[in-house]
Amino acid sequence: DQPIRLGMLGFGTVGQAVARALQRRAHEIATRTGRAIVLHRVAVREPAKPRPVALDGLHVHRSPLEVVEQPDVDLLIEVMGGEEPAASAIRRALELGKPVVTANKVVMARRGPELLGMARRRGVPLLFEAAVGGAVPIIRPVQESLASDRILALLGIVNGTTNFILTEMTDAGAAFEAALQEAQRRGYAEADPSADVSGLDAACKLSVLASLAFDRWVPLDRLDVRGLEGITARDVQYAGELGLAVKLLAFSRLRDDAIEAWVGPALLPRRHPLAQVRGVNNAIWLVTEAAGELMFYGPGAGGDPTAAAVLGDVMDAVRRHAARLPTDSRNGSWPVAGVEWEPA
Ligand code: NDP
Ligand code: HSE
Repeated sequence: DQPIRLGMLGFGTVGQAVARALQRRAHEIATRTGRAIVLHRVAVREPAKPRPVALDGLHVHRSPLEVVEQPDVDLLIEVMGGEEPAASAIRRALELGKPVVTANKVVMARRGPELLGMARRRGVPLLFEAAVGGAVPIIRPVQESLASDRILALLGIVNGTTNFILTEMTDAGAAFEAALQEAQRRGYAEADPSADVSGLDAACKLSVLASLAFDRWVPLDRLDVRGLEGITARDVQYAGELGLAVKLLAFSRLRDDAIEAWVGPALLPRRHPLAQVRGVNNAIWLVTEAAGELMFYGPGAGGDPTAAAVLGDVMDAVRRHAARLPTDSRNGSWPVAGVEWEPA
């Protein structure tokens, strides 16, 4: 079979990590999906910019739509961020019947109903596990594993940058600005880090999660959002002296058939499980009618963890869409079985 050829919009922190992982894990990916998956075309703003992972061997475009339109792009990965032109590119890919994987919580929060509606109507996968919680599996559990249950409330830390900043301020007495710069250096922050600090990034994620959890659209403008502006190292230190931790939380629950949802800084007793979530980690606590309480925890940002979630979605999309992806006509054996287990 010919490989599945990816078009990828964006080759920054996440895009480069996806490219690296596609090479390093080519064998596992091919064995577990039954198809080789290769990066073929990318779109970037500045093709000549020096990058830790080079663009060598790839077709490089400046226009995202140009990548989407190429007949030799079978599946689209969108990791460039922002609402536009990302949303239009995703829309066009779905129109063309190409599966899409995105890590973009802005697009999913602002344009989710339109794009998911189109994906459903056309029967084309639009997957976005990396858009909330980085590497933490939370979209699929809420959409699929808990589909028969009823989610009553969710509370969590869904922004890695601010959790990293608060941890640095608590543990190392770091100043806010220095901790933010370190988060940027490590690739955790958004291109415009004010989205992290203001709570907007967490709000986009909460809008997506609450909409899936409560089966109705929870738009961004319905959320009460506060960020970390005005929180100083001294506030964090005083809270610590009282046995409390400052955390940027996202909360939502169904109450009398209305949805309550907010993002904001809160004080938690230091022994509370969410108070112990440190550094770039995220954690999401769900309360459901049947299962009771569930906690999802892990790295919420960073290139490699996020790339793992993106590629998990790519593999899922390839499996789901198998019959409609191009095959080599000499070999009609697709879809093939996944991993053959050897006896232990
Ligand atoms: P970066 O800023 O590192 O990379 C963005 C990439 O997109 C760059 O390669 C840039 O090109 C390209 N790009 C941006 N706008 C355009 C445009 N209009 N046309 C063509 N190319 C464009 O972002 P990240 O990799 O950090 O994040 C990407 C996405 O993943 C965002 O939606 C983010 O929210 C999400 N995400 C990020 C995580 C992280 O830890 N970083 C974790 C989870 C999700 P050029 O390189 O030339 O400037
Ligand atoms: N800037 C985001 C964060 C990236 O820090 O959580 C992951 O979505």
